[in-house]
Amino acid sequence: MENLQTGEGAKASVGPLLEWYRKNQRDLPWRHTTDPYKIWISEIMLQQTRVDTVIQYYRRFLERFGTLRELAGASAQDVLAVWKGLGYYSRALNLQKAAQQVVERYDGVFPRDYEVLRQLPGIGDYTAGAIASIAFNQPYPAVDGNVLRVICRLEGSEDDISQSRTKKRVADIVCPIIPKDHAGEFTQAMMELGALVCIPLAPLCGHCPVQSFCAAYRTGRQNELPVKKKKEAPRIVPCWVAVLRENGKIFLEFRKNDRLLGQLWGLPIVEKKDSRSPAQLLEEKYGLRLKNARKLGSASHVFSHQIWKMDVFTFALAEPMPHSDVLHWVEEEELERYAVPTAFQRVLKLLHSDNGWEQLEISLE
Ligand code: ADE
Repeated sequence: MENLQTGEGAKASVGPLLEWYRKNQRDLPWRHTTDPYKIWISEIMLQQTRVDTVIQYYRRFLERFGTLRELAGASAQDVLAVWKGLGYYSRALNLQKAAQQVVERYDGVFPRDYEVLRQLPGIGDYTAGAIASIAFNQPYPAVDGNVLRVICRLEGSEDDISQSRTKKRVADIVCPIIPKDHAGEFTQAMMELGALVCIPLAPLCGHCPVQSFCAAYRTGRQNELPVKKKKEAPRIVPCWVAVLRENGKIFLEFRKNDRLLGQLWGLPIVEKKDSRSPAQLLEEKYGLRLKNARKLGSASHVFSHQIWKMDVFTFALAEPMPHSDVLHWVEEEELERYAVPTAFQRVLKLLHSDNGWEQLEISLE
């Protein structure tokens, strides 16, 4: 088994890689700026999300929050409303917290120092390296999935890329070969090669500018590398969701301190347990009294570690709503203004599709 050690393949690749990137890079909106604020927004959005999807969100976000001070001055709800649909909402909340810290501690000037960047909420090794190199041309590595794959193939390494020590080894290989004055181009060139040529399945080695330095290609292992141990399968979470509507209003919960989807708006939801009915579980959790349960349909949503399998019911209220800070009637016409994550948008869609209705009366006993 070959481990990551020498970095010879990676080192020899730098020149041809930069030359290839200058000719073949995609025209992406964040490549027209070196403004650290804009680079930061793009890098946070690009974590976990495809480039095609990010482009429109990036433009919209910067139209709404054109400067770091505007972002710092906005409410969390405003930021979440623009982020709606991108998922992993803690990214948006961290962006706003970090913007506030930059205003308070650094008078609104985006820090250049890697260690200072690293202290800001939501900025880890990858993002600090990406900002330091792309915005400030400093020789820090930004090791994302693309870079891990490219380096492991170049080096013919069988190290497991899901382990943090492999990331560290890849960073140690990349760090000394970053070309002076071209750190930003180099960082993006590595990512671009991973995105366009050195792709996960069936890499396009015939088009690769660094094929002659690649140990995986030389030994015919480009389809086997990199090695990635399988993640545990996501947990299936069967749940009940309640749709309550009255006089053009719909009932929403503000998920104040929730670990998943915190600070966002959702429909009342409970995990299925023992033999208790949806109404019983919803009544216990929210202090409501419900009647006339009727199944509306089903929806599911895949998160990184769990999958919600949602059976959706409509109810009427048997007693007036108890007073609560987090439960609200919201005008359906104004739903757009609320940060309702995709999982619940899928449920709301059932309201507008005829085949979502299963006219099924469920006994409340
Ligand atoms: N993925 C992460 N950062 C990127 C960037 N700057 N350009 C393209 N894809 C990326």
